[in-house]
Amino acid sequence: MAKSPLILLFSTLLLLSSPLPTLSSDPDPLQDFCIADLQSPISITGFPCKPTSNVTSNDFFFDGLAKEGDTNSPFGSSVLQGNVLAFPALNTLGLSMNRVDIAPGGLNPPHSHPRATETGVVIQGKLLVGLISTSNVFYAKNLTAGEMFVIPRGLVHFQKNIGEEKALIFTAFNSHLPGAVIVSLNLFGSRPSVPTDVLTKAFQVDQSVVDQIKSKFG
Ligand code: GLV
Ligand code: MN
Repeated sequence: MAKSPLILLFSTLLLLSSPLPTLSSDPDPLQDFCIADLQSPISITGFPCKPTSNVTSNDFFFDGLAKEGDTNSPFGSSVLQGNVLAFPALNTLGLSMNRVDIAPGGLNPPHSHPRATETGVVIQGKLLVGLISTSNVFYAKNLTAGEMFVIPRGLVHFQKNIGEEKALIFTAFNSHLPGAVIVSLNLFGSRPSVPTDVLTKAFQVDQSVVDQIKSKFG
């Protein structure tokens, strides 16, 4: 028997208001491409498109991940970002990539991406790749060249070079601007600073410990 229009309307409304299916990545693009006009004063989700008449072949190519990053930093690592801000042709396409170089003993410190799931492939070296679930379960594995990993959206993760040679990873995200919250920097290096008594309580340590960590990231 055919459903009445009223029942159809109700079931459609029910479907639309149900939490499933959810959108777990950037929305689908509305046109072939939308090269970001990063100078535009207009503020929307994503960036306005530059006029198609101004688009050239060069817009679709990016060499910002070609060269090794400088790992001469306190963490001994470098993350070069190939996101919409660096490569405007990614605008609205829902993806981006990073190049991660890590010196022997170096660490890409615990961080999370609020807007994307991450996957990565090891190109060179030997790494410990770890992630922590929202139930505080730690998952980790040693990886070498050709091996992949995945970090579900928002989960804290890291990569540590446990080999003798430098390590190289390329990572990919299902967002044109995944964002990165580096846990230590976020809590101890924010501006203005998170009140020390919040941190002493949160970490159950003395003020001297918080002051010491703040001095490293301030
Ligand atoms: C690695 O974790 C990255 O964010 O590129
Ligand atoms: Mn990451």
